[in-house]
Amino acid sequence: MGKYIIAGNWKMNKLPSETFDFVKEVAEATKGAECEVVCCTPYVCLAPAVEAAKGTHIKIGAENMHFEEKGAYTGEVSAEMLKDIGVEYVIMGHSERREYNNETDEGVNMKAKKALATGLVPIICCGESLEQREAGITMDWISIQIKKALADISTEDVKKVVIAYEPIWAIGTGKTATDEQAEEVCGGIRELLCKLYDCDTAKAVTIQYGGSMNAKNCAGLLAKPNIDGGLIGGASLKSADFAVITAAAK
Ligand code: 13P
Repeated sequence: MGKYIIAGNWKMNKLPSETFDFVKEVAEATKGAECEVVCCTPYVCLAPAVEAAKGTHIKIGAENMHFEEKGAYTGEVSAEMLKDIGVEYVIMGHSERREYNNETDEGVNMKAKKALATGLVPIICCGESLEQREAGITMDWISIQIKKALADISTEDVKKVVIAYEPIWAIGTGKTATDEQAEEVCGGIRELLCKLYDCDTAKAVTIQYGGSMNAKNCAGLLAKPNIDGGLIGGASLKSADFAVITAAAK
């Protein structure tokens, strides 16, 4: 459906001094991939990552940004700053940031609009907790998250957005959603986009699955019609594993 994109989310791992060599290693390992390959890194790793990615197929993403243009926001980084150093993607609304940094759907919406206006691709994360899944309200919850995150985003702009479905209970736990569970929600997101926009637009949006995706389980997940890629945590820190995942995305 949407363009296949495999993005690594390094989270708070890898040092700036390790970054250049590791991105080169990822570029070499993933050579020949038929999907877009992205490494999302901590702020301090972005400059060496961009440097290493030059002349390769690798794209670089940040793990966060601020929604304001500029100003007195100590410790924050703007979309313009990311763009200025050659960053192309930016993750927002990750469940870890929602939990530890009070990130809200409204904040995600402001970030997404700013990212799009600046020419960055927002990777918007959504996902339910185990309690929500067990209560049978997964799709209701995801629908609220997506509607709020995409408020006031035009048909033209939404086609550039990446949506990452990451069930919270599957992140870093080794407990992957089954292929069917992941497809059910990703398909539900596609249907929602079809209603919010139109079905051609919905088809153009890349919808990723994330949550313990690895070299062993990636093929089944990526074969599903509504899963257009992955947002990969742990397995993105090992170039060989990450390469297996990028090879499966075609
Ligand atoms: P893991 O692949 O380590 O479960 O992390 C998934 C994730 O949160 C990617 O954003």
